[in-house]
Amino acid sequence: MCGIFGCLLEDGHAAKVILEGLKKLEYRGYDSVGIATLDARGIHVKKDKGKIAEVEARLSLSSLPGNLGIGHTRWATHGAPSQVNAHPHTDCTGAIAVVHNGVIENFMQLRSELEGRGHKFKSATDTEVIAHLVEEGIARGLPFLKAVIEAVKVIDGSYAIAVISVKEPDTIICARKESPLVIGIGDRTLYCASDIPAILPYTRKVAVIEDGEVVVLSKAGFKILKLDGTPVSRAPFIVQWSAEEAERGGYPHFMLKEIFEQPLAIKNTLRVPKVYLKLSSTILSDSKRLFLVAAGTSYHAGLAASYMLSSLAHISSTPVIASEFISLCNNTIDEETVVLAISQSGETADTLSAVRCAKEQGAKILSITNVVGSSITRLSDIYICTQAGPEVGVAATKTFTTQLTTLALLAIHVSMDRGLLTTSEAQELLDNLHKVPGFVDRTLKETEPLVKKVSDLYCNKNSFYFLGRGISVATALEGALKLKEISYIHAEGYPAGESKHGPIALIEDGFPCVFVAPPDETRANIVGNIMEMMARGAHIIALASEDDKEIEELSTHFLPMPREVYKYFTPIVYITPLQLLAYYSAVTLGYDPDKPRNLAKSVTVL
Ligand code: M6R
Repeated sequence: MCGIFGCLLEDGHAAKVILEGLKKLEYRGYDSVGIATLDARGIHVKKDKGKIAEVEARLSLSSLPGNLGIGHTRWATHGAPSQVNAHPHTDCTGAIAVVHNGVIENFMQLRSELEGRGHKFKSATDTEVIAHLVEEGIARGLPFLKAVIEAVKVIDGSYAIAVISVKEPDTIICARKESPLVIGIGDRTLYCASDIPAILPYTRKVAVIEDGEVVVLSKAGFKILKLDGTPVSRAPFIVQWSAEEAERGGYPHFMLKEIFEQPLAIKNTLRVPKVYLKLSSTILSDSKRLFLVAAGTSYHAGLAASYMLSSLAHISSTPVIASEFISLCNNTIDEETVVLAISQSGETADTLSAVRCAKEQGAKILSITNVVGSSITRLSDIYICTQAGPEVGVAATKTFTTQLTTLALLAIHVSMDRGLLTTSEAQELLDNLHKVPGFVDRTLKETEPLVKKVSDLYCNKNSFYFLGRGISVATALEGALKLKEISYIHAEGYPAGESKHGPIALIEDGFPCVFVAPPDETRANIVGNIMEMMARGAHIIALASEDDKEIEELSTHFLPMPREVYKYFTPIVYITPLQLLAYYSAVTLGYDPDKPRNLAKSVTVL
């Protein structure tokens, strides 16, 4: 996730306006920043690694000349945060500049074709291919607009782009597919941006650009077209939100916004280049000992992954809470050990210390993180980045489901590489995984009103149990963690089979027990566990397949889940109503879910 901003002023200083716009977008990424403006002398670019304020203080981005320009605040996906990888990117001649938010899946192939035709690349980013593709179009004699359209037609993946060219010095061309893009219409001024809050200080008149559309911003106004050139008529609307509400996309809290961003975050995460999966799969297959090391929510992702790896890839792994890793595993690490570290921030001190300890003893380090350039990525032999975008709420939500998505992809690839799945079996699983964004979307919409009711009824209880079996133990543990950290209600996650060995003693009339009960091989036993709890007066809140009439009848409250989710992907979908349960309980109790007491987004102490 990155932020893009562009403006075309009647006269005046575009760079100053762009800088202010980028500040509003900094929540979308902040590892590097850059601006390109255009005047009679050509394109001027300033960019560097660092936060906007730091780079502005160093380079004075806002002093760039010209009344038209584009800017970018970056959240690295391809290529580490650095001066050359910062946007805008230019073509070979410096006559075209591009900013981009999204992921270009086929960039390696496009880059090698472009290099084969003599183009010189300066960065390691996927974005730079766009500048060179537009350059080729213009060199072939195409008008600027046509050159941009031809370029985006060959791109697979997601993008919101803004492009400028000396060929048409009064024009910005934008295009969108699966990454957000809005335009703002001022008084003889035009803006483009990744979201509305960036534009609000200048105008409340906005038009939202849809997938597959291109926009031309020029002195003549704005024009929206489809990729085949058909004009689109779109009446702008007047934004009624306050600036503060607009930053949260109209949601009352970042946590809720991030919960609802999960379908898109998962979709973007599924775009991981196959080469990373291949390399990671080889490391996992060759390991003699595999530890899955993480803290908090990320540990729950690791726990779920241990079920995926053992069932799908026949690989035994030990999930270890990062702060316990050295005490538990220190004497068992050698060159044949692999540590798969999972951390959204990539900065958690416990996880880093485990990774350093393992690395010193020769272990290979593989990591999954949401932050390129974080400490964990620098210590890793190979890392895969989830594409959740920055998570502002302290509670991990979209970073958890994107970690699970990456781990599921990895388990499928290891299984294929070990010859345990035929191509068609693997394809069937991948097809199901690609449907998960849709399952999550449906689940959130269908369960939200039911969850609100449950939270109203039970948020004054002192205690909750969350129970599951098999891979759903991870979902149960995460559901309990979410509830306790956000609503301060005591909640325990347990393997359901273990509940009769102690926890059941606490059950009394009306005690809320959440059962995570997907239709897998654990279902029959979990029905038995539900009965045991009911017999002692517990109220059963069950998450089970929408067609599971038996569990529905046993439940006090039933949360129907999509029937088609493959059993090892259920944590990605089933956790989402539990995130909502934590959220609505906190809000009903009057707590701020974005900033729970005593917690920090990134825990950098041991
Ligand atoms: O950044 P990390 O994934 O390494 O963070 C680990 C935990 O601190 C984190 O998952 C924490 O448990 C969550 N914020 C809880 O929602």
